[in-house]
Amino acid sequence: LRVSEIKEGDGADVFGRNLVVQGWVRTLRIQSIVTFLEINDGSCLSNMQCVLNSEAEGYDQVESGLVTTGASVWVQGVVVKSQGSKQKVELKVNKIVLIGKSDPSFPIQKKRASREFLRTKAHLRARTNTFGAVARVRNALAYATHKFFQENGFVWVSSPIITASDCEGAGEQFCVTTLIPSSHETTDSPVDAIPKTNDGLIDWSQDFFGKPAFLTVSGQLNGETYATSLSDVYTFGPTFRAENSNTSRHLAEFWMIEPELAFADLNDDMACATAYLQFVIRHVLDNCKEDMEFFDTWINKGIIDRLSDVADKDVVQITYTEAIDLLSGANKKFEFPVKWGSDLQSEHERYITEEAFSGCPVIIRDYPKDIKAFYMRQNDDGRTVAAMDMLVPGIGELIGGSQREERLEYLEARLDDLKLNKDAYWWYLDLRRYGSVPHAGFGLGFERLVQFATGMDNIRDVIPFPRTPGSAEF
Ligand code: 4AD
Ligand code: MG
Repeated sequence: LRVSEIKEGDGADVFGRNLVVQGWVRTLRIQSIVTFLEINDGSCLSNMQCVLNSEAEGYDQVESGLVTTGASVWVQGVVVKSQGSKQKVELKVNKIVLIGKSDPSFPIQKKRASREFLRTKAHLRARTNTFGAVARVRNALAYATHKFFQENGFVWVSSPIITASDCEGAGEQFCVTTLIPSSHETTDSPVDAIPKTNDGLIDWSQDFFGKPAFLTVSGQLNGETYATSLSDVYTFGPTFRAENSNTSRHLAEFWMIEPELAFADLNDDMACATAYLQFVIRHVLDNCKEDMEFFDTWINKGIIDRLSDVADKDVVQITYTEAIDLLSGANKKFEFPVKWGSDLQSEHERYITEEAFSGCPVIIRDYPKDIKAFYMRQNDDGRTVAAMDMLVPGIGELIGGSQREERLEYLEARLDDLKLNKDAYWWYLDLRRYGSVPHAGFGLGFERLVQFATGMDNIRDVIPFPRTPGSAEF
C-alpha cells in the first residue's frame, strides 16, 4: 500500500492495519517522549504522520540526529486514529530504517522557497508539494489523453524526432549534426568535430544523414501519412522550437498532442478539440481531487470552479474577421494595432478570452492565408484558410489546427507561392496523388494544457526539466 491508498479512505477500515511506508522525511519534531516524522512517498500530497518513541526498533538513529529532512526512510507500523487535528490517521511506528542520510545542505527546507530558486534545483524540486502535485496532474493528463483517443478509435502513431522537413516553415528548427568520434576525442570544441569542407562550411555529404537534419517542430506531416492509411490517428511526443521567446508560455522543448482525422473537415476538427479538452479536464477534476484542491487554495483561487465550467459549457466559435471587428470595437488601447491580415498578439488573445467572452475558451477560425502555414486548406473566398486556434484564459493559444489542403494542384501552387522547395515535400504530395481525402487535425501544447489545468503561471514549472534560451541544465 502507498500513502495515497490509506489517505483516500481515511476511514475506520484502515485502523489496525500493518503498513510499511518508504519515502522521504519532510519534517521531524522530536519531543520529550515521542517523535513526529512526516514522510512523503510521492503517491499523493499528504504526508504520513509517523509517531515513534524509544521502543521502536532503529530509534537510536533518530535520537542520534541521523534522520533529518530530506533523508529516505523505511518505516513499519500500525495505522491508528490520529490524536492531532491535521490528519485522520497516523502510523504508530515499531521499526524505522534509515536508507539514505540527507546532508545538512539539503536545499529544500520547510520554509517556502521561490519558484525561481527551485528552478535552479530542478533535480530536487519534485520533493515539494507544488512540484509533486504538478507531476501527478501532468501524468493524469497524459493518461486521459491516451484514454480519450483510444476510446474514440484513434491509433497512436510515433512520429520521428529527427526530420529533414520543416512542418511550420517558420525556420525555427534545431539542426542535428554528427560529431566525428575520432576528432571529437582530440578537440575541446564540439564544433571542430563536425565534418567540414575546405572552406569551413559543414560538409553535409559527410554528415550522418547525408543532408541537413533537424529536430522536429511538429509530427503533423508524418501523422497525415498514417491518417490517410489508418484513418484517425494521433501523435504524442516531444517537439522542439528554436524560438528565441523568453515568455511564460514558450519552451524550446515541449510535448505536443497531434490528432489527425481522416474524412473530416474543420468542423469535425473543432468538435474533436472541444471534446478532448472537456474530457481531460473532467478527468483531472475527478481523479486528482487532493492535488486540485491544493492548486485552488495555494496557486490559483477558484480554478476548480472555472475548470468545471470549461468541462461543461460549449466553447465559443468566431471567425478571424469577427475577432478583428471585436478588437477594433473594443474600448481599449492595444500596444499592437489591430488590423485585418495581421497576427493576433497575446494582448489581443487575452482581451478575447478574458474580457469579451469572460473566461471562456474561444475558437477563432478562418484566418488570412498569409499568416498561416502552407498546408492549410484554402477557403472559397481565396484569402482565408480553414484554420482554427483555441484560446484559453490566462494562456492564450492552447491549440492550433486546420483542415489540410487535400487538392494536389492547390497545394503545389501554395508551395510555389511561398517559394518552398516542392521536391523536398515529394512524399507529402504523394498523399494527394494516391487516394487523397479531406482531413484535418490540430496540435495541442501539452505544457500549456498542464498550465491551464493547474493554474501554474510559468511554463518552466510544469515540465520536469525546462529547456529555454540559455538554459539546458540537468
Ligand atoms: O500552432 P502550432 O505551431 O501548430 C502546429 O505545429 C501544427 N503543425 C499542429 C497540427 O495541426 N498538427 O503549435 C501547436 C501548439 C500551440 O497551439 C501551442 O499550444 C504549442 O503547440 N506550442 C508551444 N508550446 C510551448 N512552447 C512553444 N515554443 C510552443 N510553440 C507551440
Ligand atoms: Mg499556432
